Formats: sequence, C-alpha cells, structure tokens
Amino acid sequence: MLNGKKIILGVTGSIAAYKSASLVRLLVKQGATVKVIMTPLAKEFITPVTMATLSQNTVLSNFFNHDNGEWNSHVDLGIWADLMLIAPITANTIAKMANGICDNLLLTTYLSVRCPVVIAPAMDFDMFKHPATVKNIKTLQSYGNIVIEPSKGELASGLQGKGRMEEPEIILKKIIDFFDSKKKLKSKKIIVTAGPTYESIDPVRFVGNYSSGKMGYAIAEELANNGANVILISGPVSLSPINSNITKIDVKSAQEMYDASIKYFENADGAIMAAAVADFTPVSSTDNKLKRGKNNLNLELKPTKDIAGELGRNKKHNQFLVGFALETNNEIENAKQKIVSKNLDFIVLNSLKDKGSGFQFDTNKITIIDKNNKIEKFELKLKTQVAKDIVNKVQSLMFKV
Ligand code: CTP
Repeated sequence: MLNGKKIILGVTGSIAAYKSASLVRLLVKQGATVKVIMTPLAKEFITPVTMATLSQNTVLSNFFNHDNGEWNSHVDLGIWADLMLIAPITANTIAKMANGICDNLLLTTYLSVRCPVVIAPAMDFDMFKHPATVKNIKTLQSYGNIVIEPSKGELASGLQGKGRMEEPEIILKKIIDFFDSKKKLKSKKIIVTAGPTYESIDPVRFVGNYSSGKMGYAIAEELANNGANVILISGPVSLSPINSNITKIDVKSAQEMYDASIKYFENADGAIMAAAVADFTPVSSTDNKLKRGKNNLNLELKPTKDIAGELGRNKKHNQFLVGFALETNNEIENAKQKIVSKNLDFIVLNSLKDKGSGFQFDTNKITIIDKNNKIEKFELKLKTQVAKDIVNKVQSLMFKV
C-alpha cells in the first residue's frame, strides 16, 4: 500500500527509539523505500546497524563521511522524499524545528524537505504539557506539519500520563491513510484494455500481433496507485497485475474483448484503450487442426468490431475515453482522424519510426493529441514513466485542472 513511496524516517534521542525499529520494518513491508536519519543522541538508544539492516539502506547521521571525503546532502534528501516522518521526536528537536535551528543532519533535512512532515512526539508527561512544548508544537502545526498525538499510559519515567509515542502499527495506519487521502482517483472506476488479441484459425493456430501488454499494464498500475479501481481487460500476455485494486479480466479474441469492454464501460468513469486489437479475424475457424496440403491456403478474414469506436458512440458526458494509435506514416493526421471517428478525449500516438517505441520494448516515446488538437510531445521514457504522463493527462481531464 506504500508501493513506490520514499520516506525519510528521523529518529531522535528518546527511549521510544526502540519502537522505530518496528516502524521501519512495517514501512518497508508495505513497499516504501525508507532512509533513516538519526540524531547523535538517538544512537545511544538504538544502533544504526539495526536501523540500516531493517531499512535496507545506510543510516545517515553526520554531515560528513570523513573516511571517504563525502558529505550527506540534506538538499538531495529533501527533494527525494515523499514524506518525512520523525518518530520518536523529543521536546528538544521539536523546539529546534520550531525555531529553525539546524545543528544536525536531521534538522537541516527538515528545513530542506519539500514534502509533508509528520511527527510522533515521545516525552515525559510534564515536558509534553509544558507551555513551551505546547507552543512549539502549535508553531510546527502552523507550518503544516502533522502531529500524531502521543497516547496516555505508563511512561519511561514511571509516571502515568500523556507522552508515550503512538504504537508503530497506528503510526503506519495514519501514514497509509495520509497517502490515500491524497489519491486523486480514489473510488474512480477505470477500464484499461491491454495486450494483443488472438483470432483463432483452428485449435492450434491464430492471427495475432507482437503486443506485449507492457504499456497497458503500466497504465493500470499507475491508475491503481492513484486510488482507482481498475478493470484490466487483457488479451493473452505473460504479465500479472501487482496492485490489488486491479481486477483482471482475461480475454482472447477481439469479440471477447468487445463483450467485456461494453459490459464494464456502462458503470465506469472512463476507459483507456491500450490493446492492440486485431483488425481482422478469420471468417470461420475449424474445430479440427488444418492438415498440411500441397496447395496454397487462402485465409478469408473479416473486420473485427471497433471497440473504442463503439464505446465512443455510447460515451456519456461524464465518461472519458482515451485511445492509442500506432502509426507508421502520416502519424499526426491519422491520429487526429481517430480522435473524431472514435469520439476520443485524447489519443496517445506512438510511431514505429521512433527507436525504442512500440511493441515489446520497455520504453516508449509518445505524443498526446487532445480533441482540441493540442499536441504534447514527450521524450523516450520507461513505459512506467510514460504511464505517469498519461495518467496525469487523465487527471487533468477528470478534474479540469
Ligand atoms: N481499437 C479498438 N478496437 C479495434 C481496433 C482498435 O478498440 N477493433 C482501438 C485500439 O485499442 C486503439 C485505437 O482503437 O486505442 C486505435 O487503434 P488502431 O489499430 O491504431 O486503429 P484502427 O481503428 O484499427 O485503424 P487502423 O488500424 O486502420 O489504423
């Protein structure tokens, strides 16, 4: 649920630092990449070796690595992170952050980060309710920092009261909820078609194409990572979806893909047609395997139904439709015609002339043309990155930003 999220976990000098070991484990288990920064005092409570092993990353603590003459760039870290979580955070670090003091790597990183900051305080009851701490926490909240309130209970001092750092499982849940609340496509239902279709000639042969399904699957993952419920209508490929928000419907022929697309489009918010649907299918397929003969074999083909075209005709005003065009010549003009003939909101054009584009590759170079003829050209990128560009365009369409 935190797949692909980059999190800085700051640890400060509190007895609750032992809980950050469980926390880092839980975050990593959820798919996050975690880089731990410890204050010098935190290392008195839990060892960097423990945190490095559990986070699968080197623990950062000092400005410099004197042995190899390198420095740890708080600026790079600040740009890298999707979230900075400081747990446990002491009254001392809270006070310094509230006043912009930056005399260790954790504090300089705090001042540099562009991402949201979440803090989970841990301290003695009297320290927590001291007006200075109350004021400092309010100051941090006024900067937009999110506070996970400590819970009540027995404290390390032996006193009872509010000051125990919240349990790692609860902190994890709050982090997941936080990222979920940012997901723009939450509860949207989106169809993606992917892969080739196989048009049967006889029980062992088919007419097909080289589509690997990689582009469609990458789009499905990106949509699901943004909170959408995805119906992935897939032709025969050797891929499986990862995100549990993706429901895969396996189909083989263009007719099966047509039937599934019509069925699910009815209640969907939109569809992205990334499949390489066969344009022709044999007029008839035999039940028995065709025997080899001495004469030529003529295979009569008839056109398949245009799935995108049919969805375009049925499209309601609150539904979107995105098509793909793989062209070899007259690319832009052909793509523009398809926007009109299939009633698309935009089309993703890839040209077979571009190196690294099209079937089987892990990369793609696309041009997006929308129904107002606005043209956006993109660089050659990994299909996972191309999927982000396409999903961003879908979001701007759905939310008119
Ligand atoms: N498409 C579809 N059903 C078909 C053929 C294509 O839904 N039977 C969709 C593709 O998934 C793609 C878009 O239509 O999103 C354009 O596909 P393309 O093969 O480029 O266009 P065609 O309409 O088949 O036209 P042509 O092959 O003649 O260029």
